[in-house]
Amino acid sequence: MNQLVTATTQGNDYKFWHALSHPNEWITQEPLRIVRGDGVFVWDDKGHKMLDGFAGLWCVNVGHNRPEVKEAISKQMDEISYYQLFAGVSHPRAEELSNRLIKMTEQEDMARVIYGTGGSDGVESALKIARQYWILKGQPQRTHFISLKNAYHGVSLGGTSLNGMPVFKMNYGPLLDNCSQIETPWLYRNPWNCEEPEELAKLVIDQLERDILYHGAENIAGFIAEPVQGAGGIIVPPATFWPSLRKICDKYDILLIADEVVTGFGRTGSMFGVRGWGVKPDIMVLAKALTSGYVPLSATLFNKKIEEAFYSNDDHKGLLMHGYTYGGHPLGCAAALAVLDIVEKENLPENAEKMGGYLLTELKKLVDRYNIIGEVRGKGLMIALDLVNDKLTREPIDLDTNITARLAEACREAGAVIRPVGTKLCIAPPLIIDKDGCDLLVNAVKYAFDKIKK
Ligand SMILES: Cc1ncc(COP(=O)(O)O)c(C=O)c1O
Repeated sequence: MNQLVTATTQGNDYKFWHALSHPNEWITQEPLRIVRGDGVFVWDDKGHKMLDGFAGLWCVNVGHNRPEVKEAISKQMDEISYYQLFAGVSHPRAEELSNRLIKMTEQEDMARVIYGTGGSDGVESALKIARQYWILKGQPQRTHFISLKNAYHGVSLGGTSLNGMPVFKMNYGPLLDNCSQIETPWLYRNPWNCEEPEELAKLVIDQLERDILYHGAENIAGFIAEPVQGAGGIIVPPATFWPSLRKICDKYDILLIADEVVTGFGRTGSMFGVRGWGVKPDIMVLAKALTSGYVPLSATLFNKKIEEAFYSNDDHKGLLMHGYTYGGHPLGCAAALAVLDIVEKENLPENAEKMGGYLLTELKKLVDRYNIIGEVRGKGLMIALDLVNDKLTREPIDLDTNITARLAEACREAGAVIRPVGTKLCIAPPLIIDKDGCDLLVNAVKYAFDKIKK
């Protein structure tokens, strides 16, 4: 038997460790082994066809197996598979893509791109360049970053320091010193029990202002947040939150960093999450959907103000000693250019808004039908079912019951992959999904809850 056959037929006989779990969990359990994809569907190694209700890992927005993307990658390989972008070296696809991204974000005043290979190193670029910006502006003491509880900004030490969930940090300290977190504007669960959106946004902004003043505005480099929190449980802030964030960052001259790793390119129903909130950040981090996951790539975008700080300086302070070997990889850039053609041609942000609205309405009907669904919430094609012990107190379901994993497994039996995240079930299918696909997802969720009888 050759190695490949062994690896694909004998359960857990492989040597890599899975992210976000204890390695011991997977010694005896079979993983979900996905071997094929086409459009919104994937197949496991037993030939079972399922709707990919999480777009891989919130990334395959244009769907699997798109000939246009495969052709672009293949054509690029015929030209050249790899070249770099360090000092004075370039390749055409990186140039074309950077021009296209800056054109696409004209509305947000973006001016320059630094490429990376994924969300975590995209965030790292944002943090390092934010600090360098303040050195260039003659305020090197501005090193502190503020983020939100429940935030997720990846797994580098920078992102880990800014993550809002303690579980991501507990085994990796000491982390960056100069970081603090404020409450997240979450209507369903917040310390004030506030259910009025504008009031909640104000409470959080007031807390932010207190945090800024406590640490000293003159020491704050930037504030970072996701336009809609993803990994934290799909938390949609009140509509006034981001505009208020912009105002307070302006008041204290703080850089506003939008982590658009999940929300970029249409997922929330607008091309970018911040555009949906009508806000121009100073830095935007894009990854995942940029290539629809076909090839790893991230792009961190910086606005004109930051560009100007670099161009108006000629000494070592402006030296950009940052960049990744595979940042702007030609295959990634070629894939991204083909993906962006599809996103624009098929108007995927609009489809995300329409299909997301339909899916949300249908799934909300399940709140009255099952005791443990406390709330269904979302924006565009980012939807969470929040599971509770008690609908009145909103106490989250007991994690020890392993219920989200059992529900996700039952969904798979019914033909849909959805993602259990702590006490939530998260749904984020490819943005090309149609109404039949949404119905399939809803029916799979119903099947799962009926089966588990909750
Ligand atoms: C908002 C956000 N930022 C950053 C990251 C990190 O991205 P990556 O896993 O590609 O490093 C993620 C990943 O899910 C994310 O959701």
